[in-house]
Amino acid sequence: MNSFDFDTVVAGAEALDRGAEIIRAGGLVAFPTETVYGLGADAFNAEAVESIFLAKGRPQDNPLIVHIPSLDWVGRVAAKVPEAALDLYEAFSPGPLTIVLPKIDRLPLVTTAGLQTVGIRIPNNKIALELIERAGTPIAAPSANRSGRVSPTRAVDVYEDMKGRIPLILDGGMTDVGIESTVVSLVGEVPVVLRPGAVTLEMIASVIGKVVNHRGKVVVAEAPGMKYRHYAPTVPCFGAATPADAAAFAASRTNCIIVGASDFVAAAKAKGAEAVVDIGDTPAKCMRNAFAALREAEKSYDCIVIEHFDGREGYFALNNRLSKSYGGQLVPSVS
Ligand code: TXA
Ligand code: MG
Repeated sequence: MNSFDFDTVVAGAEALDRGAEIIRAGGLVAFPTETVYGLGADAFNAEAVESIFLAKGRPQDNPLIVHIPSLDWVGRVAAKVPEAALDLYEAFSPGPLTIVLPKIDRLPLVTTAGLQTVGIRIPNNKIALELIERAGTPIAAPSANRSGRVSPTRAVDVYEDMKGRIPLILDGGMTDVGIESTVVSLVGEVPVVLRPGAVTLEMIASVIGKVVNHRGKVVVAEAPGMKYRHYAPTVPCFGAATPADAAAFAASRTNCIIVGASDFVAAAKAKGAEAVVDIGDTPAKCMRNAFAALREAEKSYDCIVIEHFDGREGYFALNNRLSKSYGGQLVPSVS
């Protein structure tokens, strides 16, 4: 942390005007949201948006989420706003829900990666909302990591990935939710959840009645980002279905650490595991801490064994992200 460039990483409201000015001038600003940090540009400035893809090393066919400060702005980017969208925004905004709607013509295609639709979200974070208001324009922002890396939940994570590439990181402390927003598409006949998140399928269904989960093989990638390798730490990662499996595998490797919920890592310790990280004893705590735990673990260890949360009540979205970091690869079962 002491090698921080204090002109780049700035905390608090006094930096907001500088951030807004950079956005208006076509530059990039990283900012906190309640989910993860975003890397923002004026959604209507095609050149600025292109520079997001460059800074991240992101494939050009992965569309960006456009952030607005309140529901009154939705018509600035969406061509049509169905009743269901209004109901969902009412219920969950500001918050970790992105709704995909038809885009207006004026929104550049680079922002939506060539799609005629746009994902729109109202983040529940004061710094984010204030930045957009002051910039006076919707802000297109993917997560502020280099493409393929774990999403940043702290300013220091953004700094590690983006130093020298962007002029400003607004520091809002650690994000609350910890994993990216739920993405729901309302452009087809039936609403479809394209990416699970803290707003669950059940929560969405309770508002609009019918929604389909996006499971199974992605034939035509509707959320194009889903086909890329994601959330990958820089050292080999493995999933473990039981604490005993985790402990046995960790013992067979050098310098290996186990990451999981409180009960899982306690049981692994009881089985002789030495290095463990306890990410929490509730789904919300585990979501909040998971990405930072992976980023810390990869700095000091050569191998990470992650609890396989599959089937555990409340951990659906977290399991979606974590299983991507170990590519679904489970350690051998010892039982
Ligand atoms: O919580 C979040 O959503 C964070 C913060 C910064 O808002 N942003 C984020 O952005 O996670 P990103 O770019 O890392 O992920 C955006 C996801 C991708 O999977 C993308 O394919 C999907 O949203 N998406 C965006 N626009 C879409 C569209 N028009 N149609 C289908 N999927 C879309
Ligand atoms: Mg991302």
